[in-house]
Amino acid sequence: MRVLLLILLPLTLAQSLSLPPPDELLMDGVALFSRGDWSGARDRLWGALRSLREVRGARLRCGEECGPRGAHLEELVLERADCLLSCEKLQLGQPSLYRLTPETEKIFLRGAPYNYLQLAHYKLEELDEAAAAAFTFFTRNPHHEQIQDDLRRYRRMKGVQQESLRDLEEPPHRALFSQAQSLLSEGKMAPAVLKLEESLSACLSALRACRTLCEGTREKENQTHQEISEVIADYYTRVLQCKQRCIVDVSLAPGRKRPKQDSIVSHLRLLQDSYSQLREWESAAEIARSLSLFHPRDQSLLKNLQSYEEKLGGKSGGKPRESIASYVRQTLAEKKLLYYAMENLDIPFQDQDVWTPEEIVPESLRERVRAERTAAEEAGGDLPYEEVSVTLTPRQMNGTVRVTLDGVLSKEECESLLSLVQEAEASGDGFKARRSSYTPKEKFQALTVLRALEMASAGSVDTTRAHLFYYAGERAHVLAQSYFETSPLHFSYTQLVCRTAIEGEQEGRSDASHPVHADNCILDTEEKACWKEPPAYIHRDYSAMIYLNDDFQGGNLFFTELDGKSVTAEVRPQCGRLVMYGSGGENAHGVRAVTAGRRCAIALWFTESAEQAEQERHQAKILVKGDTNPREEKEKETPRAGRETTRSRISSNDDEPDRPSGRQQRRRTTRNIKDEL
Ligand SMILES: *[C@@H]1O[C@H](CO)[C@@H](O)[C@H](O)[C@H]1NC(C)=O
Ligand SMILES: *[C@@H]1O[C@H](CO)[C@@H](O)[C@H](O)[C@H]1NC(C)=O
Repeated sequence: MRVLLLILLPLTLAQSLSLPPPDELLMDGVALFSRGDWSGARDRLWGALRSLREVRGARLRCGEECGPRGAHLEELVLERADCLLSCEKLQLGQPSLYRLTPETEKIFLRGAPYNYLQLAHYKLEELDEAAAAAFTFFTRNPHHEQIQDDLRRYRRMKGVQQESLRDLEEPPHRALFSQAQSLLSEGKMAPAVLKLEESLSACLSALRACRTLCEGTREKENQTHQEISEVIADYYTRVLQCKQRCIVDVSLAPGRKRPKQDSIVSHLRLLQDSYSQLREWESAAEIARSLSLFHPRDQSLLKNLQSYEEKLGGKSGGKPRESIASYVRQTLAEKKLLYYAMENLDIPFQDQDVWTPEEIVPESLRERVRAERTAAEEAGGDLPYEEVSVTLTPRQMNGTVRVTLDGVLSKEECESLLSLVQEAEASGDGFKARRSSYTPKEKFQALTVLRALEMASAGSVDTTRAHLFYYAGERAHVLAQSYFETSPLHFSYTQLVCRTAIEGEQEGRSDASHPVHADNCILDTEEKACWKEPPAYIHRDYSAMIYLNDDFQGGNLFFTELDGKSVTAEVRPQCGRLVMYGSGGENAHGVRAVTAGRRCAIALWFTESAEQAEQERHQAKILVKGDTNPREEKEKETPRAGRETTRSRISSNDDEPDRPSGRQQRRRTTRNIKDEL
């Protein structure tokens, strides 16, 4: 035995030591990429991904090897730490070399290396790999404007097959689950159940892996003076919180909105259904009992269980499945500790599970926990754009379907759109400011997306700016659907609107820039009603305003009751701010008089009705994407890659189309990776 060990040890050591750390490879890869060394970049970047996988593999093996120790604290904590450390030393040589900063972890998590890889492969004429890398990046960043365009180009290229468009990082449980779903939809119950079982165990092992990796190292934060017990408590709760988040990581499809049910529960629901259709009552009962661990008071679940037990001849008292029961036991035990820490040590904890029984939460915390949960829900969960956040929730806006978001446009993008306004005006071509039809004290001008794009084609405005106008609308579209969880929305109308105060006519003004009205009905302030009938635009369901500036006086947006007088909320425009609301009478609104300067905004309306979708948007899309213009095809064939933020396509510098850039560039990290990105 000893001899064998002696032979094995140097082998593992030699093997793992030959592999540079992931961040080092990533940094090299990106540096080579910017120098145009495509094959060097390709090899380093793949190396970085492989290295990351191996480091994780080593940590997982160690986590398992150093499994639960004895019952005493010193055994639990100290011996495990000792075991982990020596195990990792053995596997990785110098474990500290392989530790990543949270920022670097995030780069990998978002699949950024794949965006470089797709272009490197493309330049090397390896189209299949290029398309696969692009698709992998797209899966993690579905709203990234540049990658959407690149994928469209890949689809049109000859050397690219349908199979090329695959996710290279799809976790096994997700692949199995979608196979199971398609079997279910074909009505093939028996094979579907097998797949579902496979998928469930893959899901549970992904969960285990994620939880094991939570015990990795943490960066030391501010070195304040703390009692040793405080330090331990602090570290320990962090690990527990990380473990509690794992169910979200496993359930969340990358780049998508968080599902209502976690992955384990949705597996169980499908399994219960399928077993009962297959009349396998024993299994159906076992699954129902497992499900009731999450939802012990779910009446329909209990009724189902009862009926399965009757079918089994009144046999009851069976057990839930052990793998599920032990997961529930463990996660509940962790929650108890975390709530204890929240109550007594004031360490914040946000429970990720909707099914947590109230008994677990200490009574003194219940109110706070409930309020925090509502607040988190209103904050829209994970919004699809990293730069965007909720500033005023529906509740803060004293309404229901009404929200204010910030960060939809960057400062440069607002400036770019304001320049578009000036260019359009200077061209003298259909963007004349005329006296507003609502007030003689202001001028009003409006520009549609299509008009802007046509002007760009004619050379009278900058094309990038016109495209940005188009993409700003796309962002509002994505955000409206995601925040309000609507059915698919169609563009109904989009225009860039500016309101300008006429100098010398502002004394003692009492009128509004836009009087109170509702967008899809006729507001009757006497009757306090809103009539949904023509000539109102009755098909409009959601309205959105993206503001471009705040260097003017007045011009706030305000909401009122149906009387048109009682103001319920007021919002100050500013660059990049998006206000979205339902278009009905519940959101009667107006614009305060603009008494100095010019106020510009992009106004958008969306409809749920496909028949009412505007044709103009379609034409605009063709102009932006160039789908019907084969002349442009040649130059457009090249995917432009490597940029980091969801919207960098527009804000990046077109003089250096292939150099990765974007907001990421401005952040710094210890290991300097960001300097390159
Ligand atoms: C660390 O200290 C800095 C400055 O003293 C402070 O701004 C920052 O919030 C602290 N970070 C943490 C995590 O306490
Ligand atoms: C909502 O109403 C409260 C109380 O009237 C008010 O203080 C608050 O400013 C309102 N919210 C907005 C966004 O105006």
